[in-house]
Amino acid sequence: MHPLERRQAIIVLDFGSQYSRLITRRVRECSVYSELVPASTTLAQLQQNPHLDIKGFILSGGPASVYDDGAPTCDPAILNSGLPVLGICYGMQLMALQLGGHVELAHEQREYGPATIEVLANTLHDEIYRIFEGITASPAQTEHLDQDTSTLRLPVWMSHGDSVDRLPPGFSVLAFTESNPVAVIANPQGMVGLQFHPEVSHTPQGKEIIRNFLFHICDCDGNWTASSVIEEAVEQIRQRVGNERVICGLSGGIDSAVAALLVHRAVGDQLTCVFVDTGCLRAGEREQVVDTFATHMHIPLIIVDAHQRFLSRLADVVDPEQKRRIIGEEFIRVFEAEAERLEEEHGPIAFLAQGTLYPDVIESTSHDTASTATRIKTHHNVGGLPEEMVLKLVEPLRVLFKDEVREIGLALGLPEEWVWRHPFPGPGLAIRIIGAVDETRLEMLRAADTIVIDEIRRAGIYRELGQAFAVLTPLQSVGVMGDGRTYANVVAVRAVTTGDFMTADWARLSPDLLGRIANRIVNEVPEVNRVVYDITSKPPATIEWE
Ligand code: XMP
Repeated sequence: MHPLERRQAIIVLDFGSQYSRLITRRVRECSVYSELVPASTTLAQLQQNPHLDIKGFILSGGPASVYDDGAPTCDPAILNSGLPVLGICYGMQLMALQLGGHVELAHEQREYGPATIEVLANTLHDEIYRIFEGITASPAQTEHLDQDTSTLRLPVWMSHGDSVDRLPPGFSVLAFTESNPVAVIANPQGMVGLQFHPEVSHTPQGKEIIRNFLFHICDCDGNWTASSVIEEAVEQIRQRVGNERVICGLSGGIDSAVAALLVHRAVGDQLTCVFVDTGCLRAGEREQVVDTFATHMHIPLIIVDAHQRFLSRLADVVDPEQKRRIIGEEFIRVFEAEAERLEEEHGPIAFLAQGTLYPDVIESTSHDTASTATRIKTHHNVGGLPEEMVLKLVEPLRVLFKDEVREIGLALGLPEEWVWRHPFPGPGLAIRIIGAVDETRLEMLRAADTIVIDEIRRAGIYRELGQAFAVLTPLQSVGVMGDGRTYANVVAVRAVTTGDFMTADWARLSPDLLGRIANRIVNEVPEVNRVVYDITSKPPATIEWE
């Protein structure tokens, strides 16, 4: 695909299901670009985007019943557009209702959780309805395949009580369940309704069903790949930036790194990266930024060593929220001063590159208004946009999920270690020191943290964990070392497994590994004589201690 061609897209209308975002991801996993938009988005609004070649729509599930007061509806123009539509659960019921069918509200025969659909034999062999094409029962399910009638039984995941009890004109039933005679419906124009959720892993053949919708019904090409994303992003950045100069704050994390790499590929040395050393970084972090960006990738990089400034403002500050405020403010001041200095030396800077991701964009989009226009999150972490700076934004990751950013980072040559690094809070080690922050305590924590990570990497479980780190507690306790009594600091070790960082479980590290970590910390870090392991989940705890 030429980078400036319109991009084939499947639009997912969000009716409020907890799985809406997952649908978008599943589509993208099939190399087809997909966007999640509020349910109230109209066809006319979508058509205003000159970059999208809309190939079909997916109406998500949702918590409402179609006859509820104020239940969300779909722009009729979408249903009448002639483009394929896949309605899932609420989306199916809404589509059926709006096209002239009828929905029966939930009664005792609700179907929640696992169920089995039986696909009608004539559907499987019908050229018109291709939603189940090529799908066979997996070996574990062969007992479900009825050889005589060649019907197919598939395990699926249900989560809605209402069901369609009168089909809209032109629709047929393709599958049923024990308690619901209308589990899948379709018409010859490519409109399909599924009572179950194909996007969740509890529907094992769900991805194949989505794939059939994309490639057999919507005729997508499936050319949205890491390299096409890179080409397209580079071209768009070139067009937007022209001959102007761009500044990018590197945080040490993957998002700003990939954003910077894309901008550099697009406009070369018109980009200058700035990395602020706040003094609250982990061991080796600054060196790694220099090594990767300046030495290996030859990207103009300015390191601002501002640790004195940060530490003097943090002196004696104990309250974590105040620490966050101070670091955020100070970061912006340092960044602005550097930008001004650069402007004086090399002329005006017009753009700020940022690694804003798609989930931030979705979260900032108001889903209860008709507007699809996204507004930028007002809250920014360290590295965020200084409010007073009059810079235009370049946000090349705005359409991407985190795993897509990782893939692109790898394709752009970012080292694996960087791509898979655990997240690190903007305020850094300052919030992992409970109580006052000073150079000595930072050194102590840095040393302990390095040991935690080192041992976890050696055990080969770094990638399995969402985050692992050391915390310096304000406690001191009695110990005995050699022949002497000690009274020294307590370090806590935190390791969690998590998918989304909203909830997390404490990692069941092996006793041997914990033992090695504790031993090394008390032996190698002076002033620490006790190590404890945090075994609380989130909730009720959080991941960071603060
Ligand atoms: P909590 O402690 O709330 O943290 O369970 C959830 C995740 O967010 C990270 N975190 C931050 N990330 N800037 C960031 O970029 C911040 O100010 C910040 N505070 C917490 C935390 O490390 C965990 O991954």
